Amino acid sequence: MTKTHAVSFSKTGGPEVFDYVDIDLAPPAAGEVQIRQAAIGLNFIDVYFRNGSYKVPHLPFVTGKEGAGTVTAVGPDVADFRIGDRVAYASADGAYSVERNIEARHLVHVPDGIELETAAAMMLKGMTAEYLLNRTFKVGPQTVLLFHAAAGGVGLIAGQWAKALGATVIGTAGSEEKVELALAHGYNHVINYKSEDFVGRVREITGGKGVDVVYDSIGRDTFPQSLDCLKPRGLFASFGQSSGPIENFTLAMLAQRGSLFATRPSLFAYIATRQELVDSAKALFDVVQSNKVRINVNQTYPLREVGRAHADLEARKTTGTTLLIP
Ligand SMILES: NC(=O)c1ccc[n+]([C@@H]2O[C@H](COP(=O)([O-])OP(=O)(O)OC[C@H]3O[C@@H](n4cnc5c(N)ncnc54)[C@H](OP(=O)(O)O)[C@@H]3O)[C@@H](O)[C@H]2O)c1
Repeated sequence: MTKTHAVSFSKTGGPEVFDYVDIDLAPPAAGEVQIRQAAIGLNFIDVYFRNGSYKVPHLPFVTGKEGAGTVTAVGPDVADFRIGDRVAYASADGAYSVERNIEARHLVHVPDGIELETAAAMMLKGMTAEYLLNRTFKVGPQTVLLFHAAAGGVGLIAGQWAKALGATVIGTAGSEEKVELALAHGYNHVINYKSEDFVGRVREITGGKGVDVVYDSIGRDTFPQSLDCLKPRGLFASFGQSSGPIENFTLAMLAQRGSLFATRPSLFAYIATRQELVDSAKALFDVVQSNKVRINVNQTYPLREVGRAHADLEARKTTGTTLLIP
């Protein structure tokens, strides 16, 4: 047994439910490795599990999906990873830990030249940008897109990546500072949706045509206005609910606005096979190593203070990526 620490909660609720606890970590089981984490990525999905909007599999629960570290032990039946390897992941619960066991199928090797902290900051948000721009909709030079929460973790990566693909990139953000930040990260136009009518501005920017695709992670507060930003036969990609879930969605809404398409994609369905995970991570590492996408770690908190990090994320105080340091 290895004596270590994790952050868990025994009931769902506000940021105060977290406890920093002692853990006796067993040796890795078959198919698992043990890692010492250099950094943990904070994601909005962690909030959904903590507050109960997504169902937790059991209580107490150690949440967190994303991290990077060094392999310290290898269980039976693991072929691809050795002690000392630098690894990262984006799809395994239990990230809020100092050391942890993890099924090797979730891991990728971090290439030389990428710091473990950077890897922890970009796996979940960066692979999300990858599948949204390459696979949910094939973004290219002809594409005009709208991306909400442009100054957020996913938003800053997606803006840079969409620019690299040659698209016309319109964003929204909730303050003038965030508008400036997004403009410096690939966005051609950024609308302050707290003070401006974003549907009217999108119509203005696109000469009345509307956009090919809206990437909406806001949910309740931008619905159904996001649909009104689309061209006929455009795609509504609803990939999150930072303001709460969308209610009263009907298929008739798509018909009324010109045969729209709608999807509710999730990263975990896009990296479900080993090949999909490896390909998505490689595309991300390549775009970062080519300097087309920079990863902005704009907030860092000790793991013990994760409650404060959650409160800041929910209060819209953060920009770019946030790391928790064990
Ligand atoms: N489906 C997937 O595969 C997938 C994967 C990763 C992330 N996501 C989703 O993508 C979104 C972004 O994730 P992230 O971790 O990068 O977070 P984030 O964008 O850094 O933070 C959320 C941002 O949403 C905006 N927002 C608008 N209304 C809000 C409200 N009522 N409460 C809180 N925030 C609000 C805020 O920006 P402004 O102040 O500029 O409005 C805030 O900074 C989340 O909804 C997340 O669930 C989905």
